[in-house]
This record gives sequence, structure tokens and C-alpha cells, in this order.
Amino acid sequence: MAQIHAADSFETLAIHAGQDPDPMTGAVVPPIYQVSTYKQDGVGGLRGGVHAGATSGPGRWIEGYEYSRTANPTRGALEECLAALEGGTRALVFASGMAAEDCLLRTICRPGDHVLIPHDAYGGTYRLLDKVLSAWDVIYHPVPVCDPAAVRAAVAEHHPKVVWVETPTNPLLSIADISMLAEIAHSADALLAVDNTFASPYLQQPLAHGADAVVHSTTKYLGGHSDVVGGAIVVSDADLAARCAFLQNAVGSIGGPFDAWLTLRGVKTLAVRMERHCDNAAQAAFMLTGHPRVAKVYYPGLPDHPGHEVAAKQMRGFGGMVSFRHADGAQAAIDLCGRTRLFTLGESLGGVESLIEHPASMTHASVAGSALAVPADLVRISVGIENSDDLVDDLRAALG
Ligand SMILES: Cc1ncc(COP(=O)(O)O)c(C=O)c1O
Repeated sequence: MAQIHAADSFETLAIHAGQDPDPMTGAVVPPIYQVSTYKQDGVGGLRGGVHAGATSGPGRWIEGYEYSRTANPTRGALEECLAALEGGTRALVFASGMAAEDCLLRTICRPGDHVLIPHDAYGGTYRLLDKVLSAWDVIYHPVPVCDPAAVRAAVAEHHPKVVWVETPTNPLLSIADISMLAEIAHSADALLAVDNTFASPYLQQPLAHGADAVVHSTTKYLGGHSDVVGGAIVVSDADLAARCAFLQNAVGSIGGPFDAWLTLRGVKTLAVRMERHCDNAAQAAFMLTGHPRVAKVYYPGLPDHPGHEVAAKQMRGFGGMVSFRHADGAQAAIDLCGRTRLFTLGESLGGVESLIEHPASMTHASVAGSALAVPADLVRISVGIENSDDLVDDLRAALG
């Protein structure tokens, strides 16, 4: 019998959803099913899944196990947990966040369809649309998703199939009003997809605000330990879920069992990690705000951030990401990234360890020269869960 109840809170779901003790051995952690194929009890007699009576557990969306591209119990455990954490009915787990994005966009869009994306979208999202999907005649339009009037006008002009939103955005941390954009998208029969990577489901649950689909780079906060690359889609609509699952199975962009297991282990501590990420990021942002070598700080927790009120309405906390512009220009920003002691110079984010990077030449190099180009003096930090005084001292020393 499933351990979880519908009323269980986030922290409980993170530890128990999809993770009932193994029925055969009682193992309290879902085993790593490192397997490609499964014995069938006669042709078509698949074990596991709904036909074996499961109303919950990793097999509940499938008709049994036949081949691990289609379904795998360890991946299924993570999928069930992520669906519970996002308040959706079904999740699909991918080899990377980009594989999840690709699956969602290609499930929904056909040649000639239009997509709205944030004018400060993650560089990989831009690259997927600009360099890959555009060759199949999927047309994208950058819009400031923090400005509902601009989104409304772009929807009226382009009649998109998808309004694609990041909130907070990477790397400028602008905030989109999810419920307002859902209403705008739905009024034009478009779907609202939210990349919830920066917030994580602990801080924000887009489906509850009217979004149709959530995507994640589980590489980031969900995994949380910088040791695995993965992605996910979470939806509420059964038909959309089935269509995404069909494409995922057809192309095979699945996450492997060990990666799913590692991610699931990370997810168990998401709530406590996010609390600490938020506290530490706030300390860093407040110090940077008053620093003479910092021209501007982007952090939704600051009261003068233009999206502060919307963030406070739809998020439980303001997240662990902070960006800032160096007052002495681009070279000073680059030099700073090489001078920190605890903040490691590197791409990615959302791990327990703090990271620092120069978006214009690293994560967002692919948007150089486009409408999505980021300021050259911008520095992005992923504030980890080390001691906040140590982190603030490190930044202060590096700024000089
Ligand atoms: C907001 C956001 N979405 C999607 C991705 C892509 O995820 P992955 O690197 O797991 O493919 C990233 C990666 O940095 C990201 O920051």
C-alpha cells in the first residue's frame, strides 16, 4: 500500500512519493534497476504496472515493464515523486533539461507554429529554437515575459502554440506572473509552459497557477549535488502526458536508472536545501547592493526588484541565484570570477556548493549578438549552502 496521503506536505512527499519500500526485499530506497529488458509471463504478459494491480508506485502509468526505453522502475519512482512535488498527474524524466524542452516543444508544435520565449531566456533554450527547431519551421519570438501587456500584444500578433516562460529567468532573474500569463495564453488557445529550474517545486508550483506544463533541468536544484545531468516534464493533462511519453519513447531521450536514483536521493533534501539557499542568497544580495564596485543587483528578494511583489505572491522564497553588474565593466567582471575562493568558477547552478560565472562568455555565449544578449559586465552566482558569513566574506574579498 502506498505510504503517502493526498494531504501530505511537500517535505513528506519528497521523501515518500514513488518511494514505497521495495515489495520484495523491504529496501527503503528504490533499487537501481540497471536493466534493459524484462521477462514476460507469456507473450504480452508484462509484470508490474496497472495490470498487476498497482494504483500507485513506479508502475502506475504503464501497462507493465517490457523495455527500459519505454519504462524503468527507478526512473518511474523519480517520475512519480516529481509529479507529486509539482502537483501534476504525470512526470517524464529525461537525459537532460534540454531533452525535456525538446520533447515538449516537438510534442506541441508543428511546422509553421509560433512560440513566445523570454527575451532573457536560458541560452540553450534560445539555441534549441534558433538553431534546431527553426530548421523545422518552428518560429520563435523573444518577449519580456515580465511584462504581461507585451505578452498579450505578442500573443495577438503571432498566435503562438506555446508561451514559454522562465521565472525567475536565467541570468537576469526577472519574474513572470504565471497566473496572468496562463490567462493570456489560454485566451488565445496557447499552452503555457514554465521552466521551473531556478525556483524548484519547493519554491513555486506553476501548475497550481494555471500553467499547462512544467519543465526542469533536474541537473540543478532537484538533483542538488552537481553530480548528475537530467531533465523532466510535469503536466496535469493526461492527453498531453501521453503525447509527450509517446515522443520520448519514440526518440529515446530517457534518463538512465542510476541518474534517476541519484536525482531522487537529491530530491529528498530539496526543502531544507532551498531554505538555506534562499537565506544565503539574500545575505549575498544585501551585501552586494551596498558595495561600491557593484552597479546593479538582480535578486527578486530585494524590495526594489521590479518583480518583487509577483515573486512574493507566487513563490515561497526568492531562490538561491543572484546576478550583478560590475561597476568597473566587463573585464573587471571576468577578473572577479577568477578571484573567489569558495565560489567555484563554473557553469551550472543549484548544487550545495557555490558557483560563480560570467554569463556573456559562458552559459549565455550562444545568445551573443542576438536580441537575448546579456550585459558583458554581468556576473551570476549560484549561492550554495555553505556558511553565509564565509560566502559573503569571499565575495567581498574578491570585489576588493
Ligand atoms: C533555466 C534552465 N533551463 C534548462 C536548462 C538546460 O538543462 P540541462 O543542462 O540539464 O540540459 C538549463 C541549464 O543550465 C537552465 O539553466
